[in-house]
Amino acid sequence: MRAACRAARPEQRRLGFVPTMGALHAGHISLVRAARQQCDAVAVSIFVNPTQFGPKEDFSKYPRSFERDRETLEAEGVAILFAPSTEEMYPPGATTFVAVEGLSEKLCGRSRPGHFRGVATVVAKLFNIVEPDCAFFGQKDAAQAAIIRRLVRDLDLDVEIVVCPIVREPDGLALSSRNAYLDSQQREQATVLYRSLMRVQTLADTGESDSARLIAAALEVFEQEPAVRLDYFEIVDRDTLDPVANTSQGALVAVAAFVGSTRLIDNIVLHGAG
Ligand code: PAJ
Repeated sequence: MRAACRAARPEQRRLGFVPTMGALHAGHISLVRAARQQCDAVAVSIFVNPTQFGPKEDFSKYPRSFERDRETLEAEGVAILFAPSTEEMYPPGATTFVAVEGLSEKLCGRSRPGHFRGVATVVAKLFNIVEPDCAFFGQKDAAQAAIIRRLVRDLDLDVEIVVCPIVREPDGLALSSRNAYLDSQQREQATVLYRSLMRVQTLADTGESDSARLIAAALEVFEQEPAVRLDYFEIVDRDTLDPVANTSQGALVAVAAFVGSTRLIDNIVLHGAG
């Protein structure tokens, strides 16, 4: 893989990289297209990374559609596809992990202990294998993007991180490989995440900047959808992921909720007054 990537990047040519877990949808494709625009060649990885799943999570049933994904990426003009086996990525005795302390315990990290350690570890490994000039991530996983930016800064990794906007269904639901788990009733209920975020956006647009009041308004929206179990609804600093009491300097509004047993996440960024 490293040899192929080096060959795809002769002097002065930029290699873009999009790490994924496959089951590709339009959100992933938007990253591939951004990479195509900004770089000379694009590499994509498909690897359902076991170290970022908890013991009771959906690693074994995570959707896998390799042949379809491969065809999609070929049609999108992706030069290199890397789809390693678990044994290649984690040979017996692999015991080295990357922990982005402080950030890894925030937001999803609180309800998914070890998740971001697995993400940071596999992304660091993929960066070392691919050696991209530029790597593309989705704002959909806002905490993940913050953690990757910190990882790159703290370990002096020579890769530029580009974060691309969330791609949504017409009714606002953020695209996710996990949406495939939803039945038609749950699919309707799932829009509550976006509806709660839009309530916050509307209030913020009228000048409300008190986080507690914004959160209270969002929780009212969730009360109207009792079948959906809220995991968290937080308003935090975009870099530290620490809660902020006021959004006037800008903030990340992040939500996670269970629709049946499917855990979904979404977020918006408030840009603040100044
Ligand atoms: P995965 O969930 O497959 O997502 C791959 C990339 O697609 C991530 O950067 C994610 O933020 C982005 N993405 C997902 N849904 C999106 C949407 N609706 N709009 C825009 N971008 C979207 O995230 C992972 O895989 C893994 O944690 C990984 C980084 C590959 C490490 O294993």
